[in-house]
Amino acid sequence: MLIKELELVNYTNYAHEHISFHPRLNILIGANAQGKSNLIDSIHFLSLARSHRQNQDLDLIRWGETFFRLKGLIENKQGSFILEHAVKKGRKIAKINGTSLPKLSSLIGHFTTIIFTPDDLNLIKGGPELRRRFLNRKLVQLTPLYYDYSAAYQRILTQRNNLLKRGDASTEEMAVWDQQLSYYGSLIMVQRNKVLLQLAPIAREIHHQLSGSREVLSIHYQPNLPIENMGSQPEIQELLQSKLSEALRRDLRNGYTSVGPHRDDFCCLLNDVDARHYGSQGQQRTTVLTLKLAMLKLMAEETGEYPVLLLDDVFSELDQSRRQYLLAMVSQSVQTIITATDLEQLDRPGMPEACVFQVHQGKIN
Ligand SMILES: Nc1ncnc2c1ncn2[C@@H]1O[C@H](COP(=O)(O)OP(=O)(O)OP(=O)(O)O)[C@@H](O)[C@H]1O
Ligand SMILES: [Mg+2]
Repeated sequence: MLIKELELVNYTNYAHEHISFHPRLNILIGANAQGKSNLIDSIHFLSLARSHRQNQDLDLIRWGETFFRLKGLIENKQGSFILEHAVKKGRKIAKINGTSLPKLSSLIGHFTTIIFTPDDLNLIKGGPELRRRFLNRKLVQLTPLYYDYSAAYQRILTQRNNLLKRGDASTEEMAVWDQQLSYYGSLIMVQRNKVLLQLAPIAREIHHQLSGSREVLSIHYQPNLPIENMGSQPEIQELLQSKLSEALRRDLRNGYTSVGPHRDDFCCLLNDVDARHYGSQGQQRTTVLTLKLAMLKLMAEETGEYPVLLLDDVFSELDQSRRQYLLAMVSQSVQTIITATDLEQLDRPGMPEACVFQVHQGKIN
């Protein structure tokens, strides 16, 4: 997967810029507040129609303007195509080769990226919703049906919660909703379990290398169900349904659904100790990087091509041996776009061939 060209019009602090990327390593250099992270985020927007920085679409429009447009020339194993996004007040349009996509889910799989930014430290430190989002975003790309399962689950969950709040649903009526909720919920849990089982050995190997053989990383799914070993989908569905009906009285009192995959989590243990609670800042950062790189490898194994890797500000935070491992790993086969405030942060000797861009006040040279 490659992004060959990118054009930005009225996107954050960019008025109108064009950039041609190197097929391997691209380094964006610039002082603080020049637009490096905005550029990285624009590529993320191109792939998923949303900002990674949690910005609202309208906040991405350059101040004083009424729309923004992003246009990328992308190459994947099926060939080259032009991917375009435009946001105007109240409207969001995505196009492939000039044809509007009927829904944003049709974007899935065309252009995939893995992004790592300083905020991603929260993937380990923060609450479970961030870890679920990490899994969900990758799962929709690995298993397109997952998008439908999630959408259906979310819709039914909202309806169930509305009924709970109204408090006048009969037990029979609730049972019908619970049956559907547990069906989609079990499909989600099976997929999450599967992806984490695939991810764990890849992550263990990467982390072993990144930590200079000092740490063993293990990843464990923590489904919101009292089970030791994940069973088959029908078994999980049955268990989930019985837990939903057991929880009904409590859920009616609280006005929300207390069991199900919307409360799932996973944990990362370093030498058998939970990185979330006991890891040092550096260990947590390395673990997040491991998770991202492992996902990159897994996606390459599953889809036959590497996503584009976007690394915002990682080098200032990593020690030399970790930087070297990272560069060695990505220089082989992954198109990578890295930001740094100066080139000193990067180890010039041993660095693979790269294109260096200067970012200054929303201009790229
Ligand atoms: N909608 C917008 N219109 C115009 N400017 C914006 C908009 N949104 C953000 N900016 C500005 O873009 C500037 C560049 O932000 P960005 O986060 O890309 O900087 P950076 O180069 O990554 O800096 P750092 O090295 O500090 O991370 C910020 O000063 C911000 O105020
Ligand atoms: Mg930045």
